[in-house]
Amino acid sequence: MSSTTTSTAQTSTPSLPTEQNPYLARAYATTSLSSTRALYDEWATKYDSDLPATEYQAPTLAADAIASIIGSSLPTSTILDAGCGTGLVGALLAGRGAKTIDGVDLSPGMLDVARKTGAYTELNECDLSQPMTQSDESYDVIVCVGTLTRAHVGPEVLSEFVRVVKKGGLMVATVLGDIWVSGGYKARVDELREGGRVDVLSCETIGYRVKAGLGAKLVVMRRCE
Ligand SMILES: C[S@@+](CC[C@H](N)C(=O)[O-])C[C@H]1O[C@@H](n2cnc3c(N)ncnc32)[C@H](O)[C@@H]1O
Repeated sequence: MSSTTTSTAQTSTPSLPTEQNPYLARAYATTSLSSTRALYDEWATKYDSDLPATEYQAPTLAADAIASIIGSSLPTSTILDAGCGTGLVGALLAGRGAKTIDGVDLSPGMLDVARKTGAYTELNECDLSQPMTQSDESYDVIVCVGTLTRAHVGPEVLSEFVRVVKKGGLMVATVLGDIWVSGGYKARVDELREGGRVDVLSCETIGYRVKAGLGAKLVVMRRCE
């Protein structure tokens, strides 16, 4: 297991546009793991209706990216959805033919909602700001959507994804646009690429939450052999 020091995402970047949704406003301003967990436990049953696919496009774009690369291997691929929340990504991947999807998340309330999707093989609580408990090289694909964001999980987890994904495996993550550089995510991706650990297949700016005018990076990496 990696001994990398971990942290939550930096919060010292400029203010986001005013949020209409009180849960979203709180999500970007939480100051402790317990307050983040409590927020998502409270939000869990309303989250999907608060963030319909027309507004929150990241899950669809990530699932599309995976399906377009993996194609017909989706049913035989083992997938870890890191920060799975209510299971939006898992449900989309299952709809595209994925059969083995595990999910991990900080919030038991979000995991309860994810369980009801029927998309996941296993669901477990975890804190992604700490080294992961998964064994080396245990998944074909790791997807992480909406969780590398302000006051959530810092860039160190990207090194953990490289450890946990199989050689040649795929990692697909979104990172909130305005902390991509200031939060150290770009630097971590560059370091992994320059160190020969990953190939960066794409790193596009995407519309993340349409009404809020927020963008994100959608990073697609393959672990080197
Ligand atoms: C905005 S939601 C995204 C959920 C889902 N991936 C989606 O796209 O709808 C962020 C998720 O990150 C989880 N989270 C926040 N901090 C975390 C941490 N330290 N470890 C694991 N999960 C965390 C929250 O519980 C929440 O489910």
